[in-house]
Amino acid sequence: EKGGYDTFMEKEIHEQPQAVGDTLLGRTDEDGRLVLDELRISEEQLKNVDRITIVACGTAAYAGMVAKYAIEHWTRIPVEVALAHEFRYCDPIVSERTLVVSISQSGETMDTLMAVKHARELGALTVSVCNTHGSTIPRESDAVLYTHAGPEIAVASTKAFLAQITACYVLGLYLAQLRGGSYADDAAAVLKDLHEVPDKIAELLGSMDRVQEIARFMADTRSVLFLGRHVGYPIAMEGALKLKELAYIHAEGFAAGELKHGPIALIEPGQPVFIVVPGPDTPHGLHGKVVSNIQEIRARGARTLVIAQEGDTAVEPFADEIIRVPATSPMLAPLLTVVPLQVFALHLSTAKGLDVDQPRNLAKSVTVE
Ligand code: BG6
Repeated sequence: EKGGYDTFMEKEIHEQPQAVGDTLLGRTDEDGRLVLDELRISEEQLKNVDRITIVACGTAAYAGMVAKYAIEHWTRIPVEVALAHEFRYCDPIVSERTLVVSISQSGETMDTLMAVKHARELGALTVSVCNTHGSTIPRESDAVLYTHAGPEIAVASTKAFLAQITACYVLGLYLAQLRGGSYADDAAAVLKDLHEVPDKIAELLGSMDRVQEIARFMADTRSVLFLGRHVGYPIAMEGALKLKELAYIHAEGFAAGELKHGPIALIEPGQPVFIVVPGPDTPHGLHGKVVSNIQEIRARGARTLVIAQEGDTAVEPFADEIIRVPATSPMLAPLLTVVPLQVFALHLSTAKGLDVDQPRNLAKSVTVE
C-alpha cells in the first residue's frame, strides 16, 4: 500500500507532481481558459467580491498565505489570511461582498468548520478548498473547489499542501480572467507556466540525494532556522513546521526582512539556516535583498543551506550548501521550493529513528475545537 516506499509520507511526496497536475486537470477549455462551472457561483456574484478572507489551520494556513500574495497580485482584490480559530472569535469584518475561502485537506477540522459557519451567518459567500469528497466543510459551504491530491495518510501534510496552493492559484487566476483586459492576459501567461510545474517537481524529486545526506548528518541538531521572503516567507514557516512535527526539533521560520529586527541575534557559529531565495526575476530586487541576508548571517558564522533557482550564481559565494530548484515564474515558486524542505524533515526524522507517518501528539484531523 506504500507503493514500494518506506513511509506514506515519502510516497506522498513523490505523488506531488500528480497532485498538482490532477488539481489542474479538467479545469481549462480548449482555448486554455479556466472553466469553473463546478463552483456554481454566478460570474456576477464573483465579480461583486471586493474582499477575500482565507481561513485555515496549520499547513493549510500556509497555503493560504502563499495564495494571498498571488491572488492580490493577479486580481488587486485585498486578501486577508486568518487562522480559523482566531477568525471565529475576533469579531471579523465580513459582508455579502466578502468571499471567505476555507482550506482544509480533511474537510473535518473543527476550527475551520466553525469559522466557515460563522462567516456564513455573517452573510459572506463561502468557498471550500478541500481534498475530501463528502466531508463536512464542503457541505457547510456555498461552493467547493476540490483539490485532487488523492487520500493523504501521513499526518504531516505534503501533497495536499501543493494541491491546496494549486487550487488557490486556479481560483485567483479565474477571478483575474473574469476581470478581463490585462488581468486576463497576465493570468493566461501564468496558467501556461503552472501547467509546466508538475514536470518540474518530478525533475526536482530526482535530485534530492544531497538533501537526504544533509539531513542524515544533522540528526543531533537542536535548532534550525528558516528564512524566506514574499511567497518564500510562508514556505520558510512550512519548512519549520514540518521539522517540528516530524523531527521534534525547535525550528522557526522568519520573513528575511525581519532578520535585522531581531532574529539575527540568534545567529551564532554553526547555526543551520535554510534560506528560500526568490528567483532572480522576482520584482522589486527581492533576490538581491535575500542574497544580502545570506551574506550577513554567513559573516556571523551561520551554516547556510540555500534553496536557489537553477542558474542563480549570486548565492554561490555565501552558501555552505546549495539546493537547486527548477526556474519558474515568481508566484509559482512555492510549489518547488517547499519540496526540499519536506524531504529534509522526512530524512531527519528517519535519521532520528522516529515515526514519520505518526508523529507524537498529532492527529491527521482535529475534530474538536
Ligand atoms: C493539523 C494537522 O492538525 O491540521 C496538519 O496535523 C494540518 O497537518 C492541519 O495541516 C489542518 O488540517 P486540514 O485537514 O484542515 O487541512
